[in-house]
Amino acid sequence: MPRPRPALAAALLLALCGAAAAADAAADMSDAAKERSRAAASEQWHGRLHRLAALRVDDFSVADLLGPVLRHRYELPPTQVKKSLVYLGANQRLRRVVHDLLVGRPISIGAIGGSITHGAKASKIGETDWFSLVTRYMRDAFPRSNVTARNGALPATPSALMNMCLETYVDSGIDLLFVEYCANDGSDPHDRVKPKVYERLLRKILQ
Ligand SMILES: *[C@@H]1O[C@H](CO)[C@@H](O)[C@H](O)[C@H]1NC(C)=O
Repeated sequence: MPRPRPALAAALLLALCGAAAAADAAADMSDAAKERSRAAASEQWHGRLHRLAALRVDDFSVADLLGPVLRHRYELPPTQVKKSLVYLGANQRLRRVVHDLLVGRPISIGAIGGSITHGAKASKIGETDWFSLVTRYMRDAFPRSNVTARNGALPATPSALMNMCLETYVDSGIDLLFVEYCANDGSDPHDRVKPKVYERLLRKILQ
């Protein structure tokens, strides 16, 4: 059966926009308040992940399959992450990627977007920008797989530009692509053109 590729991680990126907003809000909080909110989030995640770990898929428990993933320390409370998810789809492609990661097949991941993804304000681009952190996390969580990563984001560009030169910034045969145009496609709710251009880009990626 042909392996459909690549998978899109739009939902995760919406979560990222939520995280950016939460980071702004957090900047106004006292250290004690931040600690309390982290502890509350961690408590909520603990309950959810515990229930998830008890589930079984075929003959395996989710805890065995996704052990290191389930030990991730989330910064955002689950309710906030849930609010950022608009559409999850059937997830068939993402399931294929997770399967390959679990069985130890090599996986290539990439990112496109604007300066947020390129690494603006990260203490060290290529190490502490979000895509590098996600890459490191995936390598830690799936040690059997060989995760190769390429960041194709271009600062100060909208999705319309990537639409024209996608092949230059994304390797062919990529398995998982993160797409982030939270800021650079603008936030005008009445703009009728940009959403269409963005949809065209997503369709091109999914072909
Ligand atoms: C991982 O994949 C890359 C790209 O295909 C390859 O160059 C590298 O040798 C691989 N590493 C291991 C440990 O297999």
